[in-house]
Amino acid sequence: MNIGIDKINFYVPKYYVDMAKLAEARHVDPNKFLIGIGQTEMAVSPVHQDIVSMGANAAKDIITEEDKKNIGMVIVATESAIDNAKAAAVQIHNLLGIQPFARCFEMKEACYAATPAIQLAKDYLAQHPNEKVLVIASDTARYGINSGGEPTQGAGAVAMIISHEPSILKLNDDAVACTEDVYDFWRPTGHKYPLVAGALSKDAYIKSFQESWNEYARRQDKSLADFESLCFHVPFTKMGQKALDSIIDYADDTTQKRLKSSYQDAVYYNRYVGNIYTGSLYLSLISLLETRDLKEGQTIGLFSYGSGSVGEFFSATLVDGFKDHLDIESHQSLLNNRIEVSVDEYESFFERFDNLEFNHELEQSAEDKDIFYLKEINDNIRKYHIAK
Ligand code: COA
Repeated sequence: MNIGIDKINFYVPKYYVDMAKLAEARHVDPNKFLIGIGQTEMAVSPVHQDIVSMGANAAKDIITEEDKKNIGMVIVATESAIDNAKAAAVQIHNLLGIQPFARCFEMKEACYAATPAIQLAKDYLAQHPNEKVLVIASDTARYGINSGGEPTQGAGAVAMIISHEPSILKLNDDAVACTEDVYDFWRPTGHKYPLVAGALSKDAYIKSFQESWNEYARRQDKSLADFESLCFHVPFTKMGQKALDSIIDYADDTTQKRLKSSYQDAVYYNRYVGNIYTGSLYLSLISLLETRDLKEGQTIGLFSYGSGSVGEFFSATLVDGFKDHLDIESHQSLLNNRIEVSVDEYESFFERFDNLEFNHELEQSAEDKDIFYLKEINDNIRKYHIAK
């Protein structure tokens, strides 16, 4: 069956902090952040962009009136939920004006959840050939000011429409998931920020990648040479690099060269956004599609990872005419037209976000028109508006 990613888009907040300046403020050698971690800029979330508004912003530019009638399921993957009961998918369904007879819910397993959401969409569509599924990965990655995880923060959302006869990528029937109960990163209920065992989280990621990949290669009888490129979950660009390096010696020279250079294209956008948790793998996929000269029929391998942990290796094949369905210009303009904030301003954004202290005058001044934003919270009810 030919089911896959028909449309894909991302949204990131309008503000960023320069990682070299953050390093300086933290009395760290800038090369630790720029090279050791591999991040150049980090998206900073204003109070008026939460997982609902960012998710709706990522979806609104790819969803047509026809899609709104045909979407039978909306799944939001997140690990920065704003509610323990109500699903963000319900609010996004309303903001986008999707037909009422749709299933809407949220999925969680750290940074992994968008991947099972896509696989569930694929299974659902096999039974419902005339429908489409909207999958959104939306997160605000926050570890705390001056914390160990601070240089690996970020914010943003990716939206994907999954359908039959997709325009961009066909999802192959080959996914292999690998689960291991490990406390590498977790956020107990009530904790504002996650708890993280930094070194263990890097090791757990690499172990999960190797186990998923080895089992995938064994079951599918595949080698690295079968892939044009590999995309990874990118909490920071050095992380996927480490995973790739851990197996690259098994490939021939041509394959090594190709996978190493395409990895750089695949993390180009991530380097300027930071970690967006559930959306990071898919932001990397967009980066690869939009910055590398790929060809129809080529196969991309994808490794999804969520601490805790679940890893999954799967593949997707580029379909004829996929380039006509990318929006390179608007994505690059979104990244290039952001506003740099100083470290002091970033800290004040950070604290206002925690305390839900709006400053709409400041926040709105940066926004484009037609952007969903969180206007107010009254009696614990979140009200969203669209800036016109
Ligand atoms: N120039 C170049 N590289 C430098 C450097 C310098 N001046 N100083 C340090 N580095 C390198 C280190 O050698 C290290 O590289 P390596 O991992 O290849 O050895 C890298 O920069 C990071 O240094 P490290 O000492 O490990 O940093 P840290 O203790 O501050 O922790 C994280 C880094 C990523 C573990 C931490 O930010 C974190 O916990 N992040 C959140 C969890 C996460 O994202 N986990 C990933 C799996 S999901």
